[in-house]
Amino acid sequence: MKTFKDKTILLTGASGGIGAAMARRLADPTVTLLLTARSEERLRAVADEAKQHGAAARVFPHDLSAPRADAALHDAVTREGFAPDVLVNNAGFGALGRFENVPAAKYAEMLSLSVTNLTGLTRRCLPHMLGAEAGAGILNVASTAAHQPVPYFAVYAASKSYVLHFSQALWAEYRERGVAVTCLSPGPTRTGFQSRADSQNVAFGPMESAEKVARVGLRALLAGRRAVVSGAGNKAGALAGRLAPRRPLLAILERAFEAMI
Ligand SMILES: NC(=O)c1ccc[n+]([C@@H]2O[C@H](COP(=O)([O-])OP(=O)(O)OC[C@H]3O[C@@H](n4cnc5c(N)ncnc54)[C@H](OP(=O)(O)O)[C@@H]3O)[C@@H](O)[C@H]2O)c1
Repeated sequence: MKTFKDKTILLTGASGGIGAAMARRLADPTVTLLLTARSEERLRAVADEAKQHGAAARVFPHDLSAPRADAALHDAVTREGFAPDVLVNNAGFGALGRFENVPAAKYAEMLSLSVTNLTGLTRRCLPHMLGAEAGAGILNVASTAAHQPVPYFAVYAASKSYVLHFSQALWAEYRERGVAVTCLSPGPTRTGFQSRADSQNVAFGPMESAEKVARVGLRALLAGRRAVVSGAGNKAGALAGRLAPRRPLLAILERAFEAMI
């Protein structure tokens, strides 16, 4: 896939942060943006902005942590006559804290959103993508947390490891079949993520802008890259996270993240 021109793009988590920045970047008169998240009003604001740049934009308010929300969203989109050539699985949230202090229901929502429904939506969109003449693409948003286990962020980090490995496996399965698959790992980024993760008072280190992260991810998809980490420092951190011996790494991370809760 060489360009987003003329594509129908289904973008989750489009009501704010990195997703809204992607919508703004993708908006041009040739694309159709299908924007989804829970907040209808914020989605409409993003859609209106995209329309001002000539894009066709529609909103599909859904709670993607609800059971079978992947099917409900896909049905809603196809019922309106749309068949996405590009899927951006960006919606997500974190929950920082000692494992037993975060409600089990919150973990269930997180896993439903970031694992079960992400997988289901991808599976449902794929058959059309395989037939798309000018190529198709899937951009999955993971995190630098995906590259190693993270104490006090255990479920979030593990769910993003799923996204990272799932995406890389699909990259290999589909790269010769016209569907590019890329995993974007942002590091700390200035969005609504920190307040939702209960980590707003925490120094996560230097923050990138949502616009920069959106640009890095979308470019990587067009370049056919398997995975990309946004930012040089984050790249180094993710590499260290993959290569460092687990015991000392976990000791360092345990101390660093315990200080944040
Ligand atoms: N910001 C960071 O530091 C950072 C770092 C690494 C990875 N990431 C990842 O980047 C992605 C985008 O996050 P962000 O930083 O842009 O945070 P954000 O500003 O909080 O945006 C998250 C988006 O996901 C949507 N969303 C959350 N729960 C949802 C649900 N149950 N159903 C449907 N949509 C839902 C939100 O919309 P509604 O609230 O309207 O539903 C919003 O549009 C996430 O996958 C996140 O894990 C972020």
